[in-house]
Amino acid sequence: MQKNIYELEQTDQFTALYTIIRDETTKRDDFIFCADRIIRMLVEKATEFLPTKTKQIKTHTGCSFNGKEFIGKICAVSIVRSGEAMEKAARDICQKIRIGKILIQRNEETAKPIHFYSKLPEDIAERFVLLLDPMLATGGSACKAVEILKEKGVKEEKIIFVNLISCPEGINAFTKKFPQAKIITGAIDKGLDSKAYILPGLGDFGDRYFGA
Ligand code: PRP
Ligand code: URA
Repeated sequence: MQKNIYELEQTDQFTALYTIIRDETTKRDDFIFCADRIIRMLVEKATEFLPTKTKQIKTHTGCSFNGKEFIGKICAVSIVRSGEAMEKAARDICQKIRIGKILIQRNEETAKPIHFYSKLPEDIAERFVLLLDPMLATGGSACKAVEILKEKGVKEEKIIFVNLISCPEGINAFTKKFPQAKIITGAIDKGLDSKAYILPGLGDFGDRYFGA
């Protein structure tokens, strides 16, 4: 496995969730239910890369306990539209997390990313960023989003890109450009088809989650 790429453990339970979201016959409510479960696991995994410091506390039994406490400001940034499906998990897992948005759409003919709009917290340069987008295909959209974050002063090593499905083309493009950013992925698929869709993939995530 390349440096800074973390694929979740492929347990049978995890694969069963992926089998449902990949299945072309899966109905939208089942797709949402299973995708949400996967997203929650991915975001939990991403929190392992956030900083902590040691903290000693007293328990109700009078014992002292050498523990840890969360430190460091964080922000989740979703790539609209599909990344928005991952915001709820970020909010459920990280209390009071700030949310930013970057609207990037792939051109359907060329698969090249077009940036339309972004809205990010003023102090984003001080934060760790969980970059949320379910699909890493050519890597164009994610690379464009990281460029925007870096222009705003976010340190590359503080960016954790969380996705459900990636592929070698996207991983290589992303890691070549941003070797210090981390990728948390649920599955590394085989490659891309002629329209830059991931194979075997699951089709168009946004259409399946939000409706075509
Ligand atoms: C999808 C996906 C990523 C992008 C991945 O978004 O959510 O943003 O494609 O492809 P890439 O790695 O080749 O850039 P899309 O532009 O289809 O928009 P959507 O989220 O509205 O469906
Ligand atoms: N976007 C998707 O939703 N699916 C893919 O396979 C590639 C890009």
